[in-house]
Amino acid sequence: MNPFTLSFGKKPNQYISRLAQTGMIIEDFTASEPSSQLYMLTGVRGSGKTVMLSTISHELRQKSDWIVVELNPTRDLLTSLAAKLYAIDELHTLFIKARFDFSAFGLGVAFENTPPVTDIETVLELMLKKLREHNKRLLVTIDEVTANDHIKVFASSFQIFIRQDLPLFLLMTGLFENISEIQDDRALTFLYRAPKINLAPLNLNAITASYQNILHVPSKVARKMALTTRGYPFAYQVLGYLWYQQKPQTIEQLLPEFDQYLQELVYQKIWQELSSKDQDVLATIAKSGRSRIKDIREALGFSSSLMSVYRERLKQKGLVDTRDYGYLSLTLPRFENFIELYHELR
Ligand SMILES: Nc1ncnc2c1ncn2[C@@H]1O[C@H](COP(=O)(O)OP(=O)(O)OP(=O)(O)O)[C@@H](O)[C@H]1O
Ligand SMILES: [Mg+2]
Repeated sequence: MNPFTLSFGKKPNQYISRLAQTGMIIEDFTASEPSSQLYMLTGVRGSGKTVMLSTISHELRQKSDWIVVELNPTRDLLTSLAAKLYAIDELHTLFIKARFDFSAFGLGVAFENTPPVTDIETVLELMLKKLREHNKRLLVTIDEVTANDHIKVFASSFQIFIRQDLPLFLLMTGLFENISEIQDDRALTFLYRAPKINLAPLNLNAITASYQNILHVPSKVARKMALTTRGYPFAYQVLGYLWYQQKPQTIEQLLPEFDQYLQELVYQKIWQELSSKDQDVLATIAKSGRSRIKDIREALGFSSSLMSVYRERLKQKGLVDTRDYGYLSLTLPRFENFIELYHELR
C-alpha cells in the first residue's frame, strides 16, 4: 500500500511533526496559568489545519485530566456541547450525583424537589464547575469555522466562562478570511486578542529525510523533491505518492501529474475564492517569479497604500511570501503555472 495519502482531513501515515507550533499550544493549555485558553489555526487549503487540530486533540486525550470534545460548526454549539458532555459516562455519573436536572434539554431525567435548569448557558456553567471541582480541563475543537451565528453565540458564552475561571479551552481552525471575520465582530472583543497561528510550511530537512527513508532515493534527489514541495503539506503527500507509485528516473517525469493533483484538489478552489484584484496581483507575481513590490504596483496602477492592503491580505491568506524585503513571491509550489493558465482564461 502506498504510504502517502491524497486524502484530506485525517492524520496521514507519513506525518512530519510541527514541533514548535504544536508544542507551544499544548504547553500553554496544560500550564497551571495558561496565557490563552483559545487558539485559532489558519492557513490555506491543504496546509494541514485539520491534521494539526487532530494531533493536538489526540495528545490531550491521552492525559487523564483532559476531556476533548469535537463540535460541528454548522450546529447549535452550546446544546451540542452539553449533550456530548452528558454522554460521557464518567461525567454523566457526576452530574446525576449532583442532582442536576437538565431534562429541559432532553438530557437525563427530572429529580423531585429540584427545579429544572432551563438556560443552556447555565447548564454548561454547572457542568464546567463540576469539571473544575474534579480538576479536569475541557478542550473543545471546531474545524472549519465560518462567521455564522452559532460561532458568535458560542464565542460570547465562552468569554463569560473564561471570566469565571472555568477550565474550558478552545481550538478552532478556519481559512484566514473566515477567522478574521469572526474576530472583527465588535461584540467579541476577547477574540480580537486571541492568538492566531498561521500554519508554517513543513520543515524541509524533515521532508528530505522522510523521502530518503521511505522511498530510498539518494539524498540529492530527496532534497530536490523537498524543495519542489516548498514545504506545502499536501504537495509533500502528492509527490511522495507519485514517486512510490511510479519509481521514475527523475522528478521531472512526475511533474505533469503532480500539477494535476494540486490543481484539481486545491488550486482551483483557492483561485475561485479570490477577488479578481487578488488574482491580478498573483498573476503579476507569477509572471516573473520573485517580484519587486514596486514593479507589481506599477504594473497594476495601484497606489502604495492599496498595494500594502493586498500584500498584507495575500500574506495572511498564506499565498504570498513577504520575508524578502521589498519583494513578493508565491508560497505554493508550482502555483505560477496554474495561475498563468487560469488568469488568461478569465
Ligand atoms: N504535518 C503533516 N505532515 C505530513 N502531511 C501532512 C501534514 N499535515 C497535513 N498533511 C497532509 O496535507 C493534506 C492536507 O491536510 P489537512 O486536511 O489537514 O489540510 P487543511 O488545512 O485542513 O485543508 P482544508 O482547508 O481544505 O480543510 C493531507 O493530505 C494531509 O495528509
Ligand atoms: Mg481541513
